[in-house]
Order: sequence, then C-alpha cells, then structure tokens
Amino acid sequence: MDSLLIKGGVRLEGEVSVSGAKNACLPMFAAALLTDEKCVLKNVPDLSDVRFMAEIVGELGAEVSNPSKGVWEICAKEVSHIAPYELVRKMRASICLLGPLCARMRRAEVSLPGGCVIGARPVDLHIKGLKALNCAVEIERGYIVVDARKMRGANIYLGGRFGSTVTGTANVVMAAVLAPGTTVIENAACEPEIADLCRMLVKMGALIEGAGTPAITITGVPKLGGTEHSVMPDRIEAGTWMAAALASRGKVLIKGAQKKYLGSFLDILERAECPIEIKSANSIYIDAGSFKLKPVEAITLPYPGLPTDLQAQICALMTQADGISIITERIYPERFMHVPELARMGANISREGPSAIICGKTKLSGAPIMASDLRASAALVIAALAASGQTQIHRIYHLDRGYDSIDAKLAALGAKVERVKNPG
Ligand code: EPU
Repeated sequence: MDSLLIKGGVRLEGEVSVSGAKNACLPMFAAALLTDEKCVLKNVPDLSDVRFMAEIVGELGAEVSNPSKGVWEICAKEVSHIAPYELVRKMRASICLLGPLCARMRRAEVSLPGGCVIGARPVDLHIKGLKALNCAVEIERGYIVVDARKMRGANIYLGGRFGSTVTGTANVVMAAVLAPGTTVIENAACEPEIADLCRMLVKMGALIEGAGTPAITITGVPKLGGTEHSVMPDRIEAGTWMAAALASRGKVLIKGAQKKYLGSFLDILERAECPIEIKSANSIYIDAGSFKLKPVEAITLPYPGLPTDLQAQICALMTQADGISIITERIYPERFMHVPELARMGANISREGPSAIICGKTKLSGAPIMASDLRASAALVIAALAASGQTQIHRIYHLDRGYDSIDAKLAALGAKVERVKNPG
C-alpha cells in the first residue's frame, strides 16, 4: 500500500484547479443505465472510486470507455438487474444503482453494502422511498430485492434521524423519472451534487422541478435518451485546498472554488478571521502569510449547513487557532478517526460524544500516521503541511479514492511531497 511522505513547514504557493465532484459523478454513472443511448460524462475526476463505478456499470452490461482524460462514455444497451456483493462491497456509493435498476429493469437485486468506518450507514430511507413508489422490497441473502413492476409516482417524506439522505434522494429521483405519475419528495437532500445529477437527468428527458430544494417534483416519462454532461467542480476538494493553504500559511489561488456552494464553510472561516478573497464566482484566493487564526464552534449539518465532508479538515486547521474550538458532527457522530492521529502529531484534541474539542495553538510535529477514511486522510495531509519535520501517511489509497492527483497538485504548490510505492 502506498504512503505519502510530507515535509512540513513549507508554505503552499501558486494556483490549484479543483477537479470534478466525486459525489456528483458517481450517481451519474448509475443514471446512464436509465437509457439504452450513449451518455457522455465530462470533467470526471481521475479517482479509484470512479474507476470502480465504471467497472461496476460495465459488469452490469454497459459498454464503458474512457476515451480521453476526464471523459467517460457509457452506453447501456443491455443491463443486468443484479449488482452482486463482489462488486458492491468495493464501494458503498454503488448503492445508487438501486434506483436506476428499478426504473429501467422494473426489478433489482443489489447487495447491501455493509459497514463503513465512518459509522453506521443504514439504507432504510432508500427502501422507504422505493416502497412508497409501490415497489415490493425484501431483504434476502444480504441483498435488497425489489419488484418494481407496479411502480408509480407518490408523495414521499424522505427524512430520518439525521435529516435528509443524499444517495437516498438520488435513488428515489432516479427511480421516479420512469415511474408513471407524479412523485413529490419532501425533505429531499439539497446538496448541489443532487442538483447536478438532476440537471443531467433533465437533459436525458426527465421532468424534474425543485432540484436543490427540499421538495423535488418528478413527473414520470416513458423513456429517457442519451446526453452529454459536464460534472460540477468538487466543493469538498475546494474546501480542503482552502484549509491546506491556511494551515501552511500559504498564498494560493483555488480555481473552481464556487462561492455559492461554500457558504457555510466560508462563514466558519470568516468567524476564524481567515484572509479569504473571493476573486470571482469560481475562484478564491488565500494569502495567509500573517494572520491570527481564531478558534470556532462549528456544527455539521445537511446542505446548506456545514458539510460533514469538511469536518476533519476543519479540526486539523483549528489545531493552529489560538484558543478552544468545538467541532460537532451531526451527520456521522462517530466520524472522528482523525482525532487520535492528530493527537499523535502533538495536537491537543479530544472527543466528547459527537464533538471534537481542540485546544490551540499547538506545534505539530511529523510522525508516521495512518489514514483511515477519505476525509480523515485529507485532515492528516493538512496537519502534515503545518507540522515541523516529516510525516509519513500510510494507507493513502483512501486519498486516491477522492482526491484527483493530490500529490502532483501539492508538489505544484511547492509542497515537499513524495509518494512511496509499496508493493505490499
Ligand atoms: N441515513 C439513514 N438512513 C438511510 C440513509 C442515510 O439514517 O437510509 C443517515 C446516515 O446514517 C447519515 C445521514 O442519514 O447519518 C446522511 O447520510 P446520507 O445518506 O446523506 O449519506 P450518503 O448518501 O451515504 C453522501 C456522500 C458522503 C457524505 C454524505 C453526507 C456520496 C457517494 N457520499 O453519503 O460522502 O458524507 O452524503 O453529506 O455522495 C465522502 O465523500 O467522503 C463521503 C462519505
């Protein structure tokens, strides 16, 4: 397994371009199964999760190709309705096949994805949504088995204990686009990635109103066609580069950072008195040469609240703030794998239930540390940049799942970074 060696204490300087959004493009591969015509996705990030998704869609019968960097073509003339465990276990997000298979094949057998290191990740709301659409759903042999022959539009309240569900919303939307009648999803996820998926579906011929709001209305159509769609930039990658620039006291122009999707994160950084300059609708500049980082209290929430996918990065940054920060996780209360690793680097950080308490400012020093999930790994990179000495981050396949060319982008900004290949 590869590891990443980072020599800290170097200011990041220069420009970095944000790649396409992982969480927008993964369900788009699934959406391509809704038609027998060709779908072309552009601005697709080069990630192991994307390659997994392409492989899974290919195994289900679609012709999938990657003719040039960032471009994927999917043509699903034939589709199998069974997504077996061997495929689904590789990537949890493949649960988003459920909706398209129900819509296209009127039946689906998708393996339950199983546990996840960031906490319990149930799929009860996905099932509730499909049942509301008049599908018969059973759990058999570890599979979600759906008979969708009588599927029809319905009013669905799709909220749970932790609020809305992103992939659950994607699944119900993708099922409903081909269901006779009208579907209204209440408490739908408002995440921009859902809105981007809906933009693609509308180009394919779907009738969808209200995407990006808590009430999405879908009028079923008999058939969808092919399309071409460019994936939105990754707002989480943008936020990660902002935190990295601040932690390293750098000067960085982040191209593809869309202010309109980063409101809650920008608000936290403003409260922390960070030097942020909005250059345009699509670029943010940070000059962190000399400023005093203030501590913050922050709570993750569904969009437009603070994304859980930026919580770990904020924790890493706040080790450098003067005072006590409290960062509370309301989406995945157990998502704190970065806490003990940051502590190994010298951070004064502890957990109190769903909150991390961070007493800054602490000098971080490089250490061998272990990446445990995607965003925890990003937090460790940020800490390594701020630390003195060398940090070796093990198991960086987690980073490769979600950050396109992270080592090359870091190196282009002047970071002292090296990928150590380990054949083991
Ligand atoms: N939930 C339920 N029941 C369900 C579904 C979800 O109770 O049936 C709960 C979850 O346990 C969680 C909350 O609802 O507490 C939100 O989960 P959601 O379904 O929105 O998460 P997801 O769709 O599985 C996506 C992203 C995650 C991101 C979350 C929250 C993709 C592929 N994944 O997951 O991204 O953290 O939304 O924004 O879109 C990442 O990129 O690192 C990542 C984990």
